[in-house]
Parts: sequence; C-alpha cells; structure tokens
Amino acid sequence: MKIFLDTADIDEIRIAARWGVIDGVTTNPSLYAKVGGASYESILQEICKITPGPVSAEVVAADVEGMLTEGRHFARLAANIVVKVPMCEEGLEAITRLADEGIKTNCTLIFSTNQGLLAAKAGASFISPFIGRLDDINEDGMTVIRELAELLALHEMDAEIITASIRHPLHVTQAALAGAHIATMPFKVLQQMIHHPLTDKGIVQFRADWDKARAELAAKKGE
Ligand code: G3P
Repeated sequence: MKIFLDTADIDEIRIAARWGVIDGVTTNPSLYAKVGGASYESILQEICKITPGPVSAEVVAADVEGMLTEGRHFARLAANIVVKVPMCEEGLEAITRLADEGIKTNCTLIFSTNQGLLAAKAGASFISPFIGRLDDINEDGMTVIRELAELLALHEMDAEIITASIRHPLHVTQAALAGAHIATMPFKVLQQMIHHPLTDKGIVQFRADWDKARAELAAKKGE
C-alpha cells in the first residue's frame, strides 16, 4: 500500500520525503488554510518539486465549468498534479470531462460504497472515502474501504482507493488489510507509525550500555 501525506505544510513534506516513505501528497482547502502565507498554486508547485508522486489539488467551484477551469489551471502547474473534485452531480460531470482531456482526478468526500462506484465509473483515477468522519458519526468507515476494494477487483475497475480522514495508526493497518491502494495521513500519524515505546526505550538502553562499555575501556587503558 502506498503512503501519501495529507498536508499542505512544506516542512512536513520535506521531512517525510527524506525518510523515503511517502509516495504522494493530498491537499484540500482546509489544509491550505492551515498553512496560508503563500498562494495555493505556489505551495502546490513546491510540493510537486519535493515528490514525484501524485499531488492532489482541490477545486472549490460549485458548477461544472468552474471546476473544469480550476482543474485545467491546476493541471498546468506540474505533471504530477491530480485534480481533486467533490462527489456531487457537477463533480461527476467534471471528472468525466477532465478524464476525456487526459487529466487525472481524485474524487473526494466519499462516504458510501455507491459513491465510490460512481466516481470510478466516471473515470476518477483515485477515490477518497473519508473513514474518520464516518467513525465520528458512529458508522464503520473501514466497511466502505473493504467493500470498494472488493468491488473494484471483482469488476476490474482501474480507480485506486485513497483511504482518507485517517485519525490514528490503527486506521493505516486496517486500511492496508482491507485492500486500500493508498492511505493518506497527517504527518502526526506517520510519526506515530514510526515510534513504539519499546523501540524508543531500546535505543536509549543500547546507547547507555555502549557509553558504559567505552568508559570502562577508557578507564582500563588509563590504568
Ligand atoms: O484527505 C481528506 C482529509 O484531509 C479529511 O480529514 O481529518 O478533516 O476528516 P479530516
């Protein structure tokens, strides 16, 4: 399963890219609003320079023509831009038309298996079910991932599932086991995946033992 970072924070993306574990980035208007300070376009271009993987840029227009104008504009920014389009009637039409133009899309705000099926049929390259927001309202977000993974494989459809709205590391494991192609997550969740209390404790212990052995050796030589 591929790992994407769900952020517009350049510093976070640079750090994760150095770790060698990220395959792409997803952004949205809320994530952009969190960082601000520069135009959305300039941030997207910077991200595209850091990662060669897909970078999702989300449209905000409510009508089809507006979505197409924004989508074409984003697609011109870099070769690895993917246009993020919300699941709605206008969004499906925009996805279909952008696919006809050879522009890749990521259908976002998916909360049901049927919405994912429609997005895949319209020609979205990626479909993004929001599992955390489903869990928040006492529904099982992972069921949508499992059903979509089975459905896409059964009917040999090409769309890739991006498990989105990830809240904790267990979501990542569950998404991988449920057959998601990609998990997109906040930087904090990626950090949580790295750490384990026994690993951190083990590192401290090994260093302490090493220092002790070296100190004993130095003392012996100095005798
Ligand atoms: O990729 C979509 C994601 O950013 C939504 O996450 O935490 O706002 O539900 P959240």
